[in-house]
This record gives sequence, C-alpha cells and structure tokens, in this order.
Amino acid sequence: MDSQNLIYETAGAVAIVTVNRPKVLNALNRAVLLELDQTFAGIAANRGIAAVIVTGAGEKSFVAGADIAEMSGFGVAEAREFSRLGQQVFNRIEELPQPVIAAVNGFALGGGCELATACDFRIAATKARFGQPEVSLGVIPGFGGTQRLPRLVGRGMAAQLLFTGDMISSEEALRIGLVNKVVPAEALMEEAKAIAGRIAGRGPLAVSAAKAALREGSNMDLNRALAYEAELFAGGFSTADQKEGMAAFLQKRQADFKAE
Ligand code: HXC
Repeated sequence: MDSQNLIYETAGAVAIVTVNRPKVLNALNRAVLLELDQTFAGIAANRGIAAVIVTGAGEKSFVAGADIAEMSGFGVAEAREFSRLGQQVFNRIEELPQPVIAAVNGFALGGGCELATACDFRIAATKARFGQPEVSLGVIPGFGGTQRLPRLVGRGMAAQLLFTGDMISSEEALRIGLVNKVVPAEALMEEAKAIAGRIAGRGPLAVSAAKAALREGSNMDLNRALAYEAELFAGGFSTADQKEGMAAFLQKRQADFKAE
C-alpha cells in the first residue's frame, strides 16, 4: 500500500503510516491527503490490523502543516474544497475502527497538529513542537483545529494557541494534555509500537467499541451517551471474543481473540 508520499509498513497487527515529504517537512498537499484517505480506507477494511501509528519521515518534522506553496494560489472555492478534503480524511481517521496513535517526532504545526489531534492519542519526542500558526499566515485552521483542539485541551488554552500562533514544547503539550507521554526521539517508535502491541493483544471488537463510545459519546448529552455505552456493552455479549476473553480469565490463560 506504499504510495508516492506515504510509507506503509506493518509489524504484526500494527500498521505504521509515515508521511514522507521530508524536503518540505512532510507538508500536506492534496496528493498526500488523497493518499492518506486511500490508505486509511484500506486499513479500515483490513481486519488483520489492530492498531495504527502515524508519524513523519526524517529527523525534524511530524507534519509542518498544509502545503503553503500549494495553498498560496487558492481562491475561495479551492480553499473551501481543500478544507473539506482534509476534514473528510481526518474524520476517517477518527472514525477508523482501529485506534490510531500519533508518534510526533518533530514539528506538528497547523495541519500537522490537526492530524495529530484527529488521532486517538499522541506520544511525542522531547524535541517535538506543537502549534496552530495559521493566523501568522492570515488564515485559520481548516482541518478541524478550531474544533478538536478545544475538545482536547479546553477552550482557553486552545484560544491562546489559535490566536497567538505560538509554538509549544513537548513538555507544555504534556502539561495541557495534548500528548500522553514524552520520550527521547530514539525511543519514540519503540514506545509507540509497544503501546500499539498491547492494544493489539486485546479484544479487537471491544477496542473498536470503546473507540466508538468515546467518539460518539462526546457528541451526546450524558444520558444518551450512557445509553449508547450500555448498548455497546451489551453487544459485546453477542461476540465469540467475549466468551473467549472471560473463559480465558477464568481458566487463568491468555485469551486468543478472533475479532468475531
Ligand atoms: C510548504 C514547507 C512548510 C509548509 C516547511 N516547508 N513547512 N513548505 N508548506 N507548511 C518547507 C520550507 O519552505 C523549506 O523549503 C523546507 O520545508 C524546510 O523548512 P525551513 O523553513 O527552511 O526550516 P526551519 O527554518 O527549520 O523552520 C521550520 C519551521 C518552518 C518552523 C517548521 O518551516 C515553518 O514555519 N513552516 C511553516 C509552518 C506553518 O505555518 N504551518 C501551518 C501551515 S497552514 P525550502 O525549499 O526553502 O528548503 C495550515 C492550514 C491547515 O496548516 C488547514 C488547511 C485547510
């Protein structure tokens, strides 16, 4: 599933998607967005993949934003289309049945920060930097940054990041809950793979249901969200994985889940 601007690899049941335009710090143009869309559509249909890691090629950058060279000539209609395209791709990541971990190896700016926030959670290299610098370019985020960032770090902190365009360090990102863990750059992929590997050992249908409950529930009032959780919980009891998981516990052995 390699494409021109992405590297696709698998390690067991873990897929690794690397944005690969290091000369422009992995900036997202239309071509990359379309490739991401196709790649994630393929992953969604692949029951052999239990978790996904997204990262950026090279030493320096995760993704330094949407491609400013490509955007600079846009008119209003093209800009709207580009924004909607990116939103569609990032929604696909958010709605993917499998969890997606962003392994943020360097700059995560603008569309790069938006890509990271569309993932389920983020771990970062010490040297990673985060920001939404769009206002410095005379525009605002258009791949979900004004919506996902406040849901993650709170409206006040998001407002500061969105209005100043300031970059923050990985330590500050950890403090505000934008990332879950900070590790030295050389340990980043191992750490991401270790977490993804633990996820891959759990019941995949249950992990998907937990992801759906988190995502859908956050858009509902509490009572509806709790009803939704109860439905997903109950649905688990129609699966072979539930029988296997509970039998394995009672028999004091490792569960062998089949995603059935
Ligand atoms: C296109 C980019 C780019 C980008 C970097 N490059 N970011 N090209 N789009 N977003 C290119 C540079 O032009 C340069 O090309 C090469 O990558 C290396 O970058 P430098 O600037 O020389 O590196 P450095 O001095 O180390 O600075 C790193 C940096 C800076 C701080 C990350 O590159 C930077 O500020 N980039 C832009 C960040 C940004 O504003 N992102 C938000 C974009 S708007 P050459 O050819 O000179 O070697 C956005 C909107 C999303 O994301 C929503 C759309 C709907």
